[in-house]
Amino acid sequence: MSRQKIAAGNWKMNLTLKKGKELVDKLIKGKRDPKVLTILGVPFTHLDGLQNHLKYVDNIKISAQNCHEQTSGAFTGEVSPQMIKALGVSYVILGHSERRQYFNENNKLLKAKVDNALAAGLKIIFCCGEPLKERKTKNHLKYVRKQIKDGLYHLSAKDMSKVVIAYEPIWAIGTGETASPEQAQEMHLALRKSLNRKFGEISNDISILYGGSVKPTNAKELFSQADIDGALVGGASLKADNFLQIINSF
Ligand code: PGA
Repeated sequence: MSRQKIAAGNWKMNLTLKKGKELVDKLIKGKRDPKVLTILGVPFTHLDGLQNHLKYVDNIKISAQNCHEQTSGAFTGEVSPQMIKALGVSYVILGHSERRQYFNENNKLLKAKVDNALAAGLKIIFCCGEPLKERKTKNHLKYVRKQIKDGLYHLSAKDMSKVVIAYEPIWAIGTGETASPEQAQEMHLALRKSLNRKFGEISNDISILYGGSVKPTNAKELFSQADIDGALVGGASLKADNFLQIINSF
């Protein structure tokens, strides 16, 4: 399998730049599996500082956590992917459930953000995941497939190869409750099959990450599943020791 193994941290609205640099220094000094790509999703205010801090470090990339769907204009408080790319940053997280839930980001808006981020030259970590209700009614596969169809299936195979998918069941985020490796694998396989029907061969090269209460104690078992290529990690990415253990769990 040639798929890139990825350990992505999502700092959300946590850590000052100073604290973030201290955390990054520990990651730089720590022992990291060289075949794993580490990506850090950090607040906008930290992008420039951390991008510079990591200029000479292989295998740790910086990501924004959101971007606007327009390139520039009268959108007070917003940041365009073109501005992010100009800093040398390579990734943006789009469609996180907190953005969908608290900032009313729907599939249509996310599609526009995807297009603008790709136009700017960014790679994307595209999040999807079902609420508990959808899982309880066994509608979870359909629900998540629709999220990726609406957000991504208008892309060419070439553009799709610049996208990493992160499956994050909402009921498992920040709750301490993780999807079982079997539950996660079921979804990842369903997504890969769907990607294969739409995009063909390249579906085998698209990394699909799991997210939702990933910790040093459950990472290994999750990563041992055939279609789980890594994780998007919230809480446990804020402590260097924990995150290094996750990076080394493949
Ligand atoms: P968590 O968050 O690891 O704290 O559950 C994951 C995420 O929201 O990306």
